[in-house]
Amino acid sequence: MIIQWYPGHMTKARRMMQENIKLIDIVVELVDARLPYSSKNPDIDALANGKYRILLMAKADMADPAVTAAWEKWYKDKGFYVMAVNARSKSGIRGVNQLIMEASKEKIERDRRRGIKNRPVRAMITGIPNVGKSTFINSFAGKAAAKTGNKPGVTRGKQWIRLNQQVEMLDTPGLLWPKFEDQSIGLKLAVSGSINDDILDSREICHHLITYLQRKYPQALAGRYHIEELEDTEKILEAIALERGALKSGAAADIDRACSLLIDDFRNLRMGRLSLEEPDDLVF
Ligand code: G4P
Repeated sequence: MIIQWYPGHMTKARRMMQENIKLIDIVVELVDARLPYSSKNPDIDALANGKYRILLMAKADMADPAVTAAWEKWYKDKGFYVMAVNARSKSGIRGVNQLIMEASKEKIERDRRRGIKNRPVRAMITGIPNVGKSTFINSFAGKAAAKTGNKPGVTRGKQWIRLNQQVEMLDTPGLLWPKFEDQSIGLKLAVSGSINDDILDSREICHHLITYLQRKYPQALAGRYHIEELEDTEKILEAIALERGALKSGAAADIDRACSLLIDDFRNLRMGRLSLEEPDDLVF
């Protein structure tokens, strides 16, 4: 399987990140809670070297809560300040400000000792496309946040959103790119909707998803499609087609449609809140 990506786009994004990272104290990195390893670009660790680090597991409202708790612990053990969030709701991100203050307490204390008052902590939001950066910025900054110098054409400098006395946020998120270290990372990103399905073969995605669900969440799969026999993935796709009325002329199962329905069901939580990887089990 060949995964196409856009090197030109990536190079530009990386340059922007390198420039912007010099201006900030703290990196607030978003990953997808359903795949907190595969949706995280490991290069950020080198880029953000020396900065305070927060890891927000966005879309936690879509992930298996027990698995999210395991990931939270895993990343905390690695030294991150971690929180599972629903970036779509204001209440879902309550506590992030507190976490920023906690993560940057050294800097705040240092400023205080030097007699520097009211210098806000400067934060940058980063993450791969579709992980929820803009949604988070909107929920977090809200309407009340005053933008500083936000008139296009008037101010050429960076745009900062003043959140309160203590925190300022760069309003352009740092765009990271997924890292396809192996094929399963690409497959998980495709299932979650983070990368365009067209890049990968959808049948292949479905076979992997079914195999994974059989292994990790057999009841979810059986319950949704009333499947008794859970062996052959092709047969399961046929059963899904019949159950969901995806038929071609002559009443033959339309496997391609069944595949789209399965992925759509996963993304819309019709099998419940499911995660695609666990800290001690990345197999997909
Ligand atoms: P980006 O800036 O990182 O590229 O991502 P963006 O905020 O555009 O979010 C991508 C999609 O993910 C959006 O859905 C957004 O609503 C959804 N999303 C972001 N964070 C969360 C979260 O914590 N929980 C859930 N359930 N969804 C989240 P969309 O379908 O593209 O648009 P819409 O449904 O909001 O109209």
